[in-house]
Amino acid sequence: MFKRLFDWLRQPLGLIAVGIVLLTVFSLAAYGIFLTQQSSAQPIQFPHRTHVGFGIQCLYCHPGAARGPSAGIPSQAKCWGCHQQIAKTQTSALLAPLKQAVESGTPIQWVPVAMVPDFVQFNHRAHVAAGQNCEDCHGDMTLVTIAENPQVFNMGWCLDCHRKAAGEDEAKLLKLADCGTCHY
Ligand code: HEC
Ligand code: HEC
Ligand code: HEC
Ligand code: HEC
Ligand code: HEC
Repeated sequence: MFKRLFDWLRQPLGLIAVGIVLLTVFSLAAYGIFLTQQSSAQPIQFPHRTHVGFGIQCLYCHPGAARGPSAGIPSQAKCWGCHQQIAKTQTSALLAPLKQAVESGTPIQWVPVAMVPDFVQFNHRAHVAAGQNCEDCHGDMTLVTIAENPQVFNMGWCLDCHRKAAGEDEAKLLKLADCGTCHY
């Protein structure tokens, strides 16, 4: 039985079959990798570009960034305050999920994009107060339709900027590079 299979696989037709199987496996693998590179599917395809382009400030929607550890995602009430007055809200397919969320009172489940692990202490306020701009870390959101991370938030990335920020100031470097500053 196996011998017959091997004999058949050595035929030209069998070789072609093997080739097709290998190709399928490779393209499935490549497709899998491609999928992991895509931006996460959000419940609403929220276009940053459009909103920032209208002159709406980052801090209007993410006020937590100036006040505390996390920036926060705006509630649907905040979206609705504006959108109930916009004619397009009634007809846009992109806005149908917003309308539905408001009418049914169910919160929109946004998929987090920018994250560090739980054992890392990150605080927006300290950075915004020190004069860092949103785009220093999040890239140019005016170009973005669906939010994506422009970089991996790894330890080397944090430390690189902390070393630059400390410059010649030894005491500051000691604090900004201290394990206990980010892990406690
Ligand atoms: C301060 C006003 C304002 C706020 C707040 C606001 N938007 Fe908008 N939004 C707009 C304007 C203006 C447009 C462009 C409408 C147009 O093209 O006619 C828009 C467009 C959109 C679109 C694209 C619609 C389309 O069909 O092209 C989506 C989706 C959207 N907003 C979702 C949201 C969500 C979700 C929130 C809350 C997180 C939100 N908006 C908060 C003003 C606002
Ligand atoms: C009209 C409201 C609005 C404005 C203005 C706005 N954002 Fe957002 N932002 C959102 C919403 C809603 C999400 C969640 C959906 C998403 O991730 O695409 C989000 C997500 C993000 C995320 C990803 C967060 C995560 O991990 O889920 C970042 C980073 C971000 N915004 C930065 C900015 C910056 C920087 C600006 C200014 C240039 C800005 N935003 C302006 C509403 C807004
Ligand atoms: C020094 C780098 C840095 C700067 C500057 C910065 N962020 Fe962030 N941001 C981060 C990191 C790191 C995270 C992930 C934090 C976490 O997982 O706790 C994050 C997460 C976020 C999130 C999603 C989760 C949340 O609620 O915190 C939003 C939204 C966001 N930032 C918006 C902004 C806005 C708006 C500004 C400017 C006012 C800004 N950020 C400035 C590094 C930065
Ligand atoms: C683009 C530059 C930049 C990046 C990237 C950055 N930081 Fe910072 N960070 C700063 C600056 C500037 C300060 C304030 C220094 C000072 O005290 O003047 C600071 C301060 C801090 C502090 C001390 C806050 C306090 O209470 O004084 C912590 C904690 C911190 N950063 C954590 C992080 C973590 C975690 C990351 C990576 C996820 C990160 N930072 C990435 C620039 C950066
Ligand atoms: C400026 C902030 C910052 C400082 C200072 C810092 N770390 Fe981290 N650390 C991070 C971030 C962000 C991560 C998570 C991302 C990653 O794994 O690279 C991390 C991850 C880690 C991990 C887990 C690594 C892994 O692969 O899962 C260990 C262990 C660690 N740090 C140890 C240390 C030690 C020891 C020090 C002092 C020499 C230190 N860290 C200083 C920000 C910092």
